[in-house]
Amino acid sequence: MAKALKTIRKLAGDSVIETALILGSGLSDIGELVADKITIPFSELKGFPQGGVSGHGKDLIIGEMGGKRIAILTGRQHYYEHGDPAAMRPALETLCELGVKTLMLTNAAGSLDTDVTPGNLMLVADHINHAGVNPLIGEETDARFVNLVDAYDPGLRANTHAIAARLEIALKEGVYMWFSGPSFETPAEIRMAQALGANAVGMSTVPEVILARFFGMKVWACSSITNMGAGMAQEAISHTQTKEVAKLGAEKLKRLIPALVEEL
Ligand code: 6GU
Repeated sequence: MAKALKTIRKLAGDSVIETALILGSGLSDIGELVADKITIPFSELKGFPQGGVSGHGKDLIIGEMGGKRIAILTGRQHYYEHGDPAAMRPALETLCELGVKTLMLTNAAGSLDTDVTPGNLMLVADHINHAGVNPLIGEETDARFVNLVDAYDPGLRANTHAIAARLEIALKEGVYMWFSGPSFETPAEIRMAQALGANAVGMSTVPEVILARFFGMKVWACSSITNMGAGMAQEAISHTQTKEVAKLGAEKLKRLIPALVEEL
């Protein structure tokens, strides 16, 4: 971690960076919004996501957005890549050491609500950890007993709704249910998720939220809906579709995120 921090400080200088953003599948071109940027490949940053999934970026971008310095990770590591729920811990710890106070997360997700259709956004209000693993297993300090009430910052959520209304972007909020992947759910699992109170399903974000709360960061998360849950629509779900439809959500996030960052 110290090594990645040193590399970042050497290349990006000592300016205060209080905001970070992690981009999900098909959303990496949100990074183009950053002005005055420097780009550091993850491969040069010890502990940052190596390898990667198609549709995901592999860079840390540092620059300016909404009048603030921001660090953007154009991709992430997923539990399904290796079975390690703590894979993002070194990267998040580095952000914490950089002084990041607010972590913004985006993901591509399947909708369980017929009124939130592909191409739309769902603000995450809460989550269900259905993968059943935790990135803090093995942590030995009492800090491991992280409180997850209001994990998705209520103030940031309220601001986001106000901005979305102003920008005329439809925005519902709901519960995100984390499945391990990489296979998609069965229709029976989708009916279970609906019965348990979930509004969207996905393969990321939850372990990062747990880690970010552990590190004391404020969290904001938004899903770009790329498809309906298995069995809810005629079309078959695929990663190709996820990447394509995510672009529609990306256009909305490109307007929403800078406006929100400006008000942080
Ligand atoms: Cl339907 N399920 C999961 N787990 N992740 C997704 C998805 C569905 N659609 C996009 N990402």
